[in-house]
Amino acid sequence: MNKLFERATYGNVKLKNHIAIAPMGMKTDIDGFVSERNIEFYRRVAEGGAGLIMVGCAMCTQEFEGRPTWAMDNFFQVAGFGQLVDSCHAYGAKVITQLTVGLGRVAYADRLETAPYGPSENPLRANPSVSTRPFTVEQIQRVVKAYGNAAFMLKKAGVDGIEMHAYGGYLFDQFLTSAWNRRTDEYGGNLRGRMRFLLECLHEVRKTCGPDFSVTAKVTVDHRIPKPGYRTIEEGIELCKILEEEGIDGLHLDTGCYERYYCQIPSVYEPKGMELDVIRAVRAAVHVPLMGQGKLNDPAVAEAVLTEGALDVIALGHQMLADPDWPTKVKEGRVKEINHCIGCNECMYLAIAGKHRPCAVNPLSGHELEYPIVPAVKTRRLLVVGGGPAGLTAAMLAHSRGIDVTLWERHDYLGGNLAAAGAPSFKTDVRVFLDNLIYRFGKSGVKAVLNKTATKEDILAEGVDDVILATGSDSIMIRLPRAEGSKVGVLTGNEAMLRKEPVTGDVVVIGGGLVGCETALHLDGMRSVGKVTIIEALDCVLKTVKHFGSNDHSLRDLMAASGVETVCSGKVTGISENGVTYEKDGQVYEVPCSTVVMAVGYRSNSALEDEIWSGINNVRLVGDAVAPRKVIDAVHEAFHAARVLK
Ligand SMILES: Cc1cc2nc3c(=O)[nH]c(=O)nc-3n(C[C@H](O)[C@H](O)[C@H](O)COP(=O)(O)O)c2cc1C
Ligand code: SF4
Repeated sequence: MNKLFERATYGNVKLKNHIAIAPMGMKTDIDGFVSERNIEFYRRVAEGGAGLIMVGCAMCTQEFEGRPTWAMDNFFQVAGFGQLVDSCHAYGAKVITQLTVGLGRVAYADRLETAPYGPSENPLRANPSVSTRPFTVEQIQRVVKAYGNAAFMLKKAGVDGIEMHAYGGYLFDQFLTSAWNRRTDEYGGNLRGRMRFLLECLHEVRKTCGPDFSVTAKVTVDHRIPKPGYRTIEEGIELCKILEEEGIDGLHLDTGCYERYYCQIPSVYEPKGMELDVIRAVRAAVHVPLMGQGKLNDPAVAEAVLTEGALDVIALGHQMLADPDWPTKVKEGRVKEINHCIGCNECMYLAIAGKHRPCAVNPLSGHELEYPIVPAVKTRRLLVVGGGPAGLTAAMLAHSRGIDVTLWERHDYLGGNLAAAGAPSFKTDVRVFLDNLIYRFGKSGVKAVLNKTATKEDILAEGVDDVILATGSDSIMIRLPRAEGSKVGVLTGNEAMLRKEPVTGDVVVIGGGLVGCETALHLDGMRSVGKVTIIEALDCVLKTVKHFGSNDHSLRDLMAASGVETVCSGKVTGISENGVTYEKDGQVYEVPCSTVVMAVGYRSNSALEDEIWSGINNVRLVGDAVAPRKVIDAVHEAFHAARVLK
């Protein structure tokens, strides 16, 4: 990994390496100031070795919409930003803060339905009954002044530059895009007209901060929406060229917008380097330094992109939440130790729901100060039952605190249900996460016993102080009437994912939830499998799945592009001689198949809790054993159970 760790330049800023944390907006505390939590998050990333800290967006004014994050609109913010900058500079990292004029039509709609402003009247994404109010020219001028003033204060705080938040369908981009900007004055019309607001802000920053202060811009060069009015790569290149002519110091390229969210906020289903096609096209057309992102967290891919010259800086978003030590681990050749992002987007899902942004696989992300890991005060012995993500997390953390830990796993492999979840080719992130977790577990020194089914007697005989039950959940099998002599095989979703012999012939998947759809897609991609049909009892697939919009949109698009057929509002009635029968609208149908896959949910393995409760000092049930849920629940519950052991 030679290139990644050579010195680099972005804008006017000299960097110790080519690695940046991509800007990610953070929640502030209620006073709107840069909090200790914010500072510690960025300090930790700098400590992990990133050369450039791109601080998530700050607002320049709250006059036209409420702040989603910090508002750089008063001089008292300088102190907090200054502290943030100093704590990153201490590690030799440079700091660029993203500065926004607002979110416009994608602003979080408040319950009072206060309309934010935009270039034209556009319905809000979050509440289409409310529309943005078009800015007057005089109001635009006030924002331009506020922008220059905010940049000036950031410069006072010591940042090395600002990045204009001109991407992703946010307010600047709404001005840039004819689908949202239908103005007939000088701020609308052709591309130059639509860019006027952005360019006036750029020039205002030059006035307030001087010609040497680095001003770069994050721009969407392709909205990836094949409809008139949205940006195509041709217009994106034109936009970049104009910004270059107007003196921008560097360009941070992106794709997508809320209407094609997974092209902007990738999910587990997106491939590595998903934005490289447009990055290469822009590289061929402009000369300023370029930054890019979009699942560049495979070190070999990142290195190749730099070697090819497509980018000058590799920005990592999600991955830096999952593991801020990515740069150091890559530099030291410890790639297998990386805590790999699983693309679940709980970071977005829960942040939008109002929480401090979490990371499913790194409970410390954003909570570095609140959850100190300290040595255990007593000598104690812990038994962890279950070797899925919860069990592995609890065991490793407790062991690192000096606790004597043994882990039992009933299977001959570790990973629990995640082994099946990571099996499809389109879920590499989960597989890499699990492989690396198991690798780190192997190195940790925790005693592990495989093929060990825990019983009450065995657990009590261990004489341990604490037991963490991370016993997971098992696939539910429903009993269906079966025709005599039927040749149809029956598998659970997990079995279909993990079995060594290929599934052959046509397949019916019962259940169109997350597992059902992913299993169907996985099977659809197998050469040995013919037609795959999902039969779902509800009126559409994925109806009750609660995950982030990018993941949902991406999975639905994968389904639409696949050969998987779906039957909704269908109630499976039995397994016939050569297929599956179901009832719909009072009629009975048959789908021929050689295999039926049951994807109808999971049942928790929690019985041991009651059995051992009175015999053990401290029993904790965590993860799917409590209720079948998400990776974030398993990892966080296990982490905290192991963290608070005295
Ligand atoms: C929690 C979260 C918050 C984000 N907030 C911002 C933001 O404030 N400004 C921005 O330009 N991009 C934001 N992004 C997008 C990232 O900068 C980046 O473009 C995107 O995550 C793709 O890069 P990745 O594949 O390395 O994660 C955010 C992403 C995440 C996951
Ligand atoms: S919450 Fe999920 S998607 Fe977000 S950074 Fe963590 S692992 Fe990645």
